[in-house]
Amino acid sequence: MTRLDRRRMLQLMAAGSAGLALARPGARAAQAPEESLAALAAKRGLIFGSAVSTPQLDDPAYLGLVRQECAAVVAENAQKMYAILPEPEAWDFGGADALAEFAARNGLDLRGHALLWNHPDYLPDWVMETEFGTAAAAEDFLRGYIGRVAGRYAPQIYAWDVVNETLDPETGELRDTPFTKALGPQVIDIAFDAAKAAAPGAKLAYNDYMSWEDGHETHRTAVLRLLERLLAQDAPVTGLGIQGHARWTDREAEFSPARQKAWRGFLDEVTGMGLDLYVTELDVNDGDATGPDAVRDAEIAAYTKDYLGLMLDYPQTKEVLTWGLADHDSWIQAFVDEGELVRRPLPFDDEYRPKPMREAMAAAFRAAPQRS
Ligand code: XIL
Repeated sequence: MTRLDRRRMLQLMAAGSAGLALARPGARAAQAPEESLAALAAKRGLIFGSAVSTPQLDDPAYLGLVRQECAAVVAENAQKMYAILPEPEAWDFGGADALAEFAARNGLDLRGHALLWNHPDYLPDWVMETEFGTAAAAEDFLRGYIGRVAGRYAPQIYAWDVVNETLDPETGELRDTPFTKALGPQVIDIAFDAAKAAAPGAKLAYNDYMSWEDGHETHRTAVLRLLERLLAQDAPVTGLGIQGHARWTDREAEFSPARQKAWRGFLDEVTGMGLDLYVTELDVNDGDATGPDAVRDAEIAAYTKDYLGLMLDYPQTKEVLTWGLADHDSWIQAFVDEGELVRRPLPFDDEYRPKPMREAMAAAFRAAPQRS
């Protein structure tokens, strides 16, 4: 445990069950859980946190919940290239700075996401329309961008998702962007190198959504080959970010022994390379679940417990972050079609009351083996 971890753990333990009373009307302090998820995780040497969006920074009750439960926060969107550099030279650190200030004011650790989301749908339009012409021009731009962003938040940011989702899950190939066009696979090496230079003390992750589900075999293999290649080139990668956006379909099928075996095989290979694991964006899309909320919540909770149980079995799993805390604000709601049920993917409901998923997470943290 680092000094920072120990200090944070002592703070959390001192805060004990008092936590913060929730300010939102209808949410009673009596419902505040006995021990925060952050404290339970810290006892096992784990970091627990959540994504926070820029609009949520104007919601005091939501921030109360974040302070109550989290040891770390990550910007849901504010540190992405499309937020920081929406037009050429139009740097905008407003949202990213606001979250960094919130974290600093409240003694929360700050995770960084993501220096290069090398995905055609999520790069700024102007970047997608750019022809770099030469490899050197693309490299200059990328080093300049990453150096400026990672440098601005060093040393506050303890871990960065350096490259996000650069592999096409269908083909296993690099996604086609102006960066890959100009630089080929070297784009990833350059991003890690630039991140290390600007944030030498931070953990540096490759982050992606390969999972245990059927159909993810090609994606998993591509991630393994990428990590192997990076390590062979001495790239400063410290771990794999596993987004953990799960889709609940059916409990038995979802986390079947066969799927668990395939997933463990993958995790064994990653950890066998000496890399850590970070669960970076946990949520459970319950789009296929039916029935009353209580039934759906119980299914989601059971699934979360199984999943985290497996992940935390690996002492290399050092962090768990959810992609938000409360259902109504989840990004997943944007995909709900008319006539479908509103999703319940996160540990708190829209009144910020804890759901069974929260208890499942607490139980998984309590049961997790101690890590250093
Ligand atoms: C999502 C945000 O939650 C949305 O608000 C945004 O519109 C798109 O991005 N994988 C990632 C995250 O790495 O950055 C994504 O976040 C969710 C999937």
